[in-house]
Amino acid sequence: MKNKIIDILKRQNGNWISGEALCRELGVSRTAVWKHIRGLREGGYDIEARANLGYRLLGSPDVPFPAEVASGLSTVFTGRRIEYFRDLPSTNAEAKNLAREGCAEGTVVIAECQNGGRGRMGRSWFSPGNKGLWFSIVLRPPVNPVETPQVTMVAAVAVATALREHAGVPAGIKWPNDILLEGKKVCGILVELNAEADRVDFMVAGIGLNVNISRDEFPPEIRDIATSLQIESGRPVSRVPLLRALLESFEKWYGCWLEQGFAPVLKKWRELCITLDCPVTVHTMKESFSGHALDVDDTGALLVRTEDGAIQRLIAGEVSLRKK
Ligand code: BTN
Repeated sequence: MKNKIIDILKRQNGNWISGEALCRELGVSRTAVWKHIRGLREGGYDIEARANLGYRLLGSPDVPFPAEVASGLSTVFTGRRIEYFRDLPSTNAEAKNLAREGCAEGTVVIAECQNGGRGRMGRSWFSPGNKGLWFSIVLRPPVNPVETPQVTMVAAVAVATALREHAGVPAGIKWPNDILLEGKKVCGILVELNAEADRVDFMVAGIGLNVNISRDEFPPEIRDIATSLQIESGRPVSRVPLLRALLESFEKWYGCWLEQGFAPVLKKWRELCITLDCPVTVHTMKESFSGHALDVDDTGALLVRTEDGAIQRLIAGEVSLRKK
């Protein structure tokens, strides 16, 4: 109901709509409308109410409410359904629940704050309220499950290009899909898969982007390795237009991958990658070793020359840069 009210108020372009017209369009009583208007005001909407004129919208909060994100969103399916929560354990977990219930591809789950945010390799993800974009996109790609690791790279290309084009920051990719600014992590991506042997049931691409977190707000253990758009650009960044740009970029690169295959995505990924031809330390679930990151192969696996000259092909894990 609240979304509908915002939709109607937005359509008036700052002009008044009478209480009577609003009630008629919504099919509810004046008291009900007033109750919802009060709720919207509490959520940060600036709505003026006058006895003989009705209501008009003066300002909207920079909160990724579905109605905010939807207005001006140019995607076909990504974010056409958005489920917004004030807090959740993890948007990936909630997106998987919705996917199991059969939700459409492109459904987005977003939480203002996550109290059990999950990162790669079993780590947790710092997700404080009102300062980031913590969201997950449900995908149903008609591909063989062996091709699904490519989606992590699709997502990395989508995020890095959106940050460059929309926020004007020099975002780079660290294999396979960390997004860095000035060598520090600004965004992490966790892609999860639910599949049978030869068929993908669904995937969930979870994206955690540090938007307006200040250095002091990061926990001490990640303060030196994490950053935010606000820190790097020196000003707060509006989250709603940024989320729209991310969803649009995601749909563009995901569509490119489905229609043209992995090659164009990989080409862009290589252009954006800042950890190729570099000395690295590799961390897998089993071991850590030093080497030189040479390239990625056609499947997205990282090729690392180890100190004894052998070439290791990595399909999972993490790298950290060593000084040259
Ligand atoms: C990483 O370790 O780099 C991946 C971090 C992914 C975090 C995001 S935040 C939204 C989504 N929900 C989660 O629980 N995790 C992902």
